[in-house]
Amino acid sequence: MLGWLLTAPLAVLSWLFSPVPLTVIVLLCAWIYRAATKNFDFWKSRGVPGPAPCFPWGNETGPPLSKPLYEVETWLYREHGGNKYCGFFEMHRPVLFVGDPDLIRSITIKDFEYFTDHSDQGIAEDLKGALIALKGAKWKESRAVLTPAFSSSKLKGMHQLVLDNTQNLTKYVMEDMDKKGEVDIRDMFARYTMDNIASCAFGVKSNSFDDSKSRFATEASNLFQISFWGIVRFMAETVFPKPLLKWLPDPQQKAIDFFTDVVNKTIDYRDKHPTSSRDFLQLMMDTKDKEGNRILTSKSIMAQAVLFFIGGFDTTASLLTFAAYSLATHPEIQERVQEETDEALSKHGALTYDAVHEMPYLDQVLAETLRLYPPFSRTERVATKDYTLPGTDIRLPAGTAVQMSPFAIQRDPNNYPDPLRFDPDRFLPEEKERRHPCVYLPFGSGPRVCIATRFALFEAKVALVALLKEATLKPTSTTPPPPAPLDKKSFILSPEGQKLPLLVVPRSKTG
Ligand code: HEM
Repeated sequence: MLGWLLTAPLAVLSWLFSPVPLTVIVLLCAWIYRAATKNFDFWKSRGVPGPAPCFPWGNETGPPLSKPLYEVETWLYREHGGNKYCGFFEMHRPVLFVGDPDLIRSITIKDFEYFTDHSDQGIAEDLKGALIALKGAKWKESRAVLTPAFSSSKLKGMHQLVLDNTQNLTKYVMEDMDKKGEVDIRDMFARYTMDNIASCAFGVKSNSFDDSKSRFATEASNLFQISFWGIVRFMAETVFPKPLLKWLPDPQQKAIDFFTDVVNKTIDYRDKHPTSSRDFLQLMMDTKDKEGNRILTSKSIMAQAVLFFIGGFDTTASLLTFAAYSLATHPEIQERVQEETDEALSKHGALTYDAVHEMPYLDQVLAETLRLYPPFSRTERVATKDYTLPGTDIRLPAGTAVQMSPFAIQRDPNNYPDPLRFDPDRFLPEEKERRHPCVYLPFGSGPRVCIATRFALFEAKVALVALLKEATLKPTSTTPPPPAPLDKKSFILSPEGQKLPLLVVPRSKTG
């Protein structure tokens, strides 16, 4: 047995170094090298400035996400002309990076017909029917079908679901504070937004406050985990033809199967037992054509629900975390918010749907939070036809990716003086009026803007108002001073270490 163990590797090695396998290996390496570098003169030949690319990462400095996205963007924006435009490479893929607000307006609004698509790279096969991944006419059709589900009247129907989850949030925050003397506010908001999106998109209770290890929470975290096979797949997508990818394991598949099953079972159950629920799932089930047939298939509803979940859970938790942090570290701003929310609550008698819409200063606070800490540091479009960049003779062939960085643009002192200072007054109506609309992009821009902007802001406001009604937020001795240091590994902007300790002091004790 031992002899075999020693001789087998030697036999394999000597086979590998025999002429035929060796030639195959050399040819394969040459092919990979050629595939990975063949585009490297793409920007130079078009006279577009930008950093020189290196094999195999292009302008990433190592495997994807080894350097935080927001750092790469800031580097492109400040050091390579990205505040106007520059070209860089994601592995071998050429990407135009645009920071000039007029160009952004052209790409996302005026010339939208050239840029109707997002890239679907990295999105699992089963989810390619989701709005965010759909292209051209199919996207347009689905967007029109889904838009009514996000109207203010539909939002009003979801108010109670959101309120119920908010009650859990307040209860558990106070209990945690009693038990531990501080609260990891990032963790609390992640549970709240998970429960919210589970009840609003899937029509189920995920109970993440009672059980953080619930199947729902576990599978959700599998969707977001950056794993070895996830990175291999992402890299392979840029080099290998699609059919080959089928043979690579997909680490998200188990979680997708779980969510598919949840949605299918809920649809089946509701078909047999009609409900008065007004969640997104029901709204999608109720979308019918003139003959009364459901427009969206179960597969499409599942893809939309899972993508609502992916797009809506961590983003809103990020917004709430940085908003709470900014209030705790700016007591005078928090006091103003409390005065405003107290007044609206006493006028309406409770945290009603209408009360939430009478808090303009809280609106400004959330807008300023999204300016300084945009959850998606980068958004993307793909040219669907050849396009000449306005004011230049640079021709982008169809298929070229264009990226914009809300993070870099919103921290540029030319757009926002003293950009690291948290100042909600930047969002007074007259201040907004003075700025170019395309220097504020946390939800994107143009017809492909986030479909759920209103819903996200609504659930964030309800949570903050409920908390601030009961308590005042304060920094602990370990809370870092502003601006908050950022996590280097997260895809969605998060506080360093994905934790943020705060004190939540009952207002009865603060006077
Ligand atoms: C603070 C929270 C959120 C932020 C900052 C955010 C941000 C974004 C951004 C930047 C985009 C891309 C826009 C573009 O390309 O111009 C987007 C698209 C999208 N978001 Fe959100 N989002 C948030 C919450 C949500 C929630 C709660 C949901 C679902 C309930 C959601 C669903 C979507 C969908 C479906 C799209 C694709 C729209 C399309 O392609 O037509 N988002 N979001």
